[in-house]
Amino acid sequence: MRHNAQLSSDFLVIGGGIAGLTFAIKAADAGTVTVLTKAGSSEANTAYAQGGIASVWSVDDSFESHIEDTLRAGAGLCDRAAVETIVREGPEAVRELIRLGTRFTRVETGGPDDSELEYDLGKEGGHSHRRVLHAQDLTGREIMRALTEAAAARPNIRTLENHVAINLLVETATAGKPGACWGVYALDRSTHEIRKVISRATMLATGGAGKVYLYTTNPDIASGDGVAMAYRAGAAVANLEFYQFHPTCLYHPAAKSFLISEALRGEGAILKLPDGTAFMKRYHPDAELAPRDVVARAIDSEMKRRGLDFVYLDLSHRDADFIRRRFPNIFKRCLSFGYDLTKGPIPVVPAAHYMCGGVQTDLDGRSSIPRLYAAGEVAMTGLHGANRLASNSLLEAAVMGRRG
Ligand code: FAD
Ligand code: SIN
Repeated sequence: MRHNAQLSSDFLVIGGGIAGLTFAIKAADAGTVTVLTKAGSSEANTAYAQGGIASVWSVDDSFESHIEDTLRAGAGLCDRAAVETIVREGPEAVRELIRLGTRFTRVETGGPDDSELEYDLGKEGGHSHRRVLHAQDLTGREIMRALTEAAAARPNIRTLENHVAINLLVETATAGKPGACWGVYALDRSTHEIRKVISRATMLATGGAGKVYLYTTNPDIASGDGVAMAYRAGAAVANLEFYQFHPTCLYHPAAKSFLISEALRGEGAILKLPDGTAFMKRYHPDAELAPRDVVARAIDSEMKRRGLDFVYLDLSHRDADFIRRRFPNIFKRCLSFGYDLTKGPIPVVPAAHYMCGGVQTDLDGRSSIPRLYAAGEVAMTGLHGANRLASNSLLEAAVMGRRG
């Protein structure tokens, strides 16, 4: 392994998902930006997001309601100030994604002018209102497309793909005070060189750590590198014990824990035992639309009590055209494994999905190490508490990427 000449820029962003790119695009107005991605630039948890981004959007909804739903899902461990700030800034962060080119799904209003369109709002577990903007069931791919194009159009942003950040460059602590961060050592996977990337402000946006578990919805890049680097450098980390399990992944040996979006339950899908009995009402009055941790535990408990490898999810009572139009990707993927969503139930199991804890930050993204910031899934702002509300991750990343 060789050491190469160092690179420098005003801002260093480690990670090119929604949090990293949102920050990079904003920072490019103030200076030069280097973005490192561990693999190709499209490989990020963000690209796999299905259900969408939660934000108060309809006139029937309110910030108070989104705040209460988030606090309830977080099981008493959310930071109210973080919840209030992020929820209230949600609509502006979504408008910014739209300005940057994201095309969320729109539907006809049914008003007097047939050509009028408004954003379609999905429903997911724990939400008392429809408030999830989405791009069919490929929301993350659409957000990544828009943000990658917007970043590429800014000459101040240089993206280095296949650069694995290894260790933060942090000054030695003096008199009990942590030293500042001045960048990172990164491995260029194509040349096998170690590069020193220097910057006066480093934004950690490396996402989650699903790969710590055998069964996860996350892609291979999600191995917790960012939280590990920050911890080694002495940054405060918190709530790492709260790893969220998504209730419904397709049960098939070749499906690699393919996610079946909670939005299916939002559109009426029912969880069933092999004999066709629905069981969620026994666990929570909101049944299939209870917060995610409740649903995942209920499925796990039924599987353990009855010795099952999976339970079933059934949406086949809904109109087949609606299912194909609303969930084209999930429909196609299930069909490729021999399951037709429009005709019958599909086998599902829970899998590791989301790191609720992470590098502790304030509401400007500052970590406990000077000049080191964090945003997105790697960070712990206090929004999620013990259990994240569905579709609040893209929301947090979009808001905090702009605040950093
Ligand atoms: P990511 O998008 O994961 O990006 C991480 C970046 O860091 C990548 O570019 C990666 O290459 C880079 N990186 C990692 N380690 C290193 C390293 N050592 N060196 C250099 N670069 C590194 N949330 C919602 O709100 N709504 C949804 O509908 C939704 N659906 C989901 C569906 C699936 C299948 C999954 C897996 C997650 C879903 N989530 C959803 C969660 C959400 O997608 C993620 O929490 C969010 O996208 C994280 O964004 P991020 O920018 O923090 O990290
Ligand atoms: C999903 O579409 O079910 C995932 C939503 C999320 O992770 O918030």
